[in-house]
Amino acid sequence: MSNEINVKFHIRRYNPKKDKSPYFQVFDIPVSKGMVILDALHYIRENYDSSLAFRYSCRMGVCGSCGMLINGSPTLACNTQILDVSDKEITIGPLPNFQILKDLVPDLMPLFEKHRSISPFIIRDEKELDDPEGEYYQTPEQLEEYLQFTYCIKCGCCMAACPTLATDKNYLGPQPLSQAHRYNKDTRDSGRKKRNEITGSRDGAFKCHYAGECSRVCPKGVDPAKAVQILKRQLVFEFLHLIKKQEPCQKLHGPGKGEKLDIPEAPEKTV
Ligand code: FES
Repeated sequence: MSNEINVKFHIRRYNPKKDKSPYFQVFDIPVSKGMVILDALHYIRENYDSSLAFRYSCRMGVCGSCGMLINGSPTLACNTQILDVSDKEITIGPLPNFQILKDLVPDLMPLFEKHRSISPFIIRDEKELDDPEGEYYQTPEQLEEYLQFTYCIKCGCCMAACPTLATDKNYLGPQPLSQAHRYNKDTRDSGRKKRNEITGSRDGAFKCHYAGECSRVCPKGVDPAKAVQILKRQLVFEFLHLIKKQEPCQKLHGPGKGEKLDIPEAPEKTV
């Protein structure tokens, strides 16, 4: 094809079953306008090395399977035009902050387990489940409160970009926290208190340093950083409420089990 140019792809390879450490392999790929990164990976597999491992399914930015590190930024391979990244050299690796199963395939199980831990579904009172009264109506304004956060496709890009997760694997991370906020904000849900036990725990929302990288890389515009900040605010209000009522608050970073908070007097004004 006349309008093709050759782009060098540096692909990170690693097979834990036989390689001692990861290494890079370089492939020259003929690229034409309209080709996405996923097309280049298919080209490599069909023409150079059929053992290259990568994950994909929908090829249209919906399933969240093809997240990878493209020139240092976590993003979707099926949704990224090659020529928008570079017409010379492109480096591709697996998503950071996850174990690597092979080549460009990360193990996303920790993400799914953390997601499951925040009860990502609408929780209703048990009594009502036995005796439903009818449909659950919602106004457009109430829907607007959480709609943006429903667009998450669980690709893992936000988790891969998070600097806190890079140093602390126990931190819940932006994806589960933003989804906790999504359900907390749903007027049909009554599970916020249950989720607070996870989101307000030692490894929850307050570990977020608000670097904002999760929102920068999110391919669906979910803005997890915003969700986490709102979540923190909500947790602080509920924490203050507990202090006011002098209730045991061991579930949020308070004193030990069964203890009550001893609130000191505010110091005299100094200025
Ligand atoms: S293949 Fe489904 S999001 Fe890329």
